[in-house]
Amino acid sequence: MDSTAAGTTTTSTSPYMAAARGETPQHTPVWFMRQAGRSLPEYRELRSGTTMLEACTNPEMTCEITLQPVQRYDVDAAVFFSDIVVPLAAVGIDIDIVPGTGPVLNQPFRTEADLERLRNLDPCDIPYITEAIGLATKELGDKPLIGFAGAPYTLASYLIEGGPSRDYLNTKTMMRNNPDLWNRLLNKLAAICGEFLRVQVEAGASAIQLFDSWAGSLSKADFRTYALPYAAQAMMSVSESTPRTYFGVGTSHLLESMRDTGASVIGVDWRTTLDEAAERLPGTVLQGNLDPTVPFADTDIMLQEADKVLQAGQAAPGHIFNLGHGVHPTTNPDQLKRLVDHIHETTRR
Ligand code: CP3
Repeated sequence: MDSTAAGTTTTSTSPYMAAARGETPQHTPVWFMRQAGRSLPEYRELRSGTTMLEACTNPEMTCEITLQPVQRYDVDAAVFFSDIVVPLAAVGIDIDIVPGTGPVLNQPFRTEADLERLRNLDPCDIPYITEAIGLATKELGDKPLIGFAGAPYTLASYLIEGGPSRDYLNTKTMMRNNPDLWNRLLNKLAAICGEFLRVQVEAGASAIQLFDSWAGSLSKADFRTYALPYAAQAMMSVSESTPRTYFGVGTSHLLESMRDTGASVIGVDWRTTLDEAAERLPGTVLQGNLDPTVPFADTDIMLQEADKVLQAGQAAPGHIFNLGHGVHPTTNPDQLKRLVDHIHETTRR
């Protein structure tokens, strides 16, 4: 994609890569978190009769699902179809992804003895990831593929709670009562998460995103003590020349700390405007942040809201348009297509 002749400055032809590097893109790039999946009829058809983990370990199916939203929407990047718990399943954790609920463990992590169940991730554990990325990047050509992982705190919350949680009671109790066990668990998760990211980049992913979806449940002080060091450790597995996005939900109070993960792009949810985020994070490229419920409104209203996001995004040295969290499963795909076309048309340089 880039011509890296010695001594010349590189200019990315991909709008996503240009914006992520703070260069001027041909138009504002757009992609959607959770674009590869539930909201697409072609996805539901392809997936019927296959469990989520079966789909994630089948390279041809993974590749096809990864490409589906790119073909339908002409978004500026593909996100690799997988799940944050795939590396945990790959090291032998008995975990299931229950439709409508999310990841569920039969035996949640609660004690010292549970650490034994978590071994290091080896590239040989995930040949299907390497293969699927090889297939997808061949089809994508110049369009970047974003690899991803769940950040250690968010992964820990699934392991400790045993499933989705409202208040993270067991997780927060462990981190306070047993900081040594917490530290050992989170170090192991940081290594797994970092290796999962590294394998994806080595296989051909052009950029990565660390999803710390539940980080917003922590106060700033707790975030800095119990989550940030491990997210930063995972992030270090990927070279600084690769765009690295860190994203969390309900994280307005954490914005400045999120940058300390070493991320080069910060994902902002819809509760904070991008001009405020840009003021608080000078020099940082931002990603976001249309409220995922806006595509349910009438098209003209949706596009007006998108224009406000575009306007606010101009305060940052680079803006990658996205929703403020994942695509809602019942979103009308035609609305997302109109949104992409509108962003491309109105920002073309
Ligand atoms: O764009 C994409 O869809 C790319 C792939 C992707 C999936 N999960 C596929 C998936 C990505 C990037 C994720 C990340 C993920 N998984 C996160 C972080 C992002 C976020 O939303 O905050 C989290 C917390 C998970 C855990 C998880 N896995 C949840 C909460 C769910 C939803 C359960 C449901 O059915 O509503 C899953 C399952 C899952 N992951 C699905 C998909 C397409 C649905 C499974 C299905 O289609 O049967």
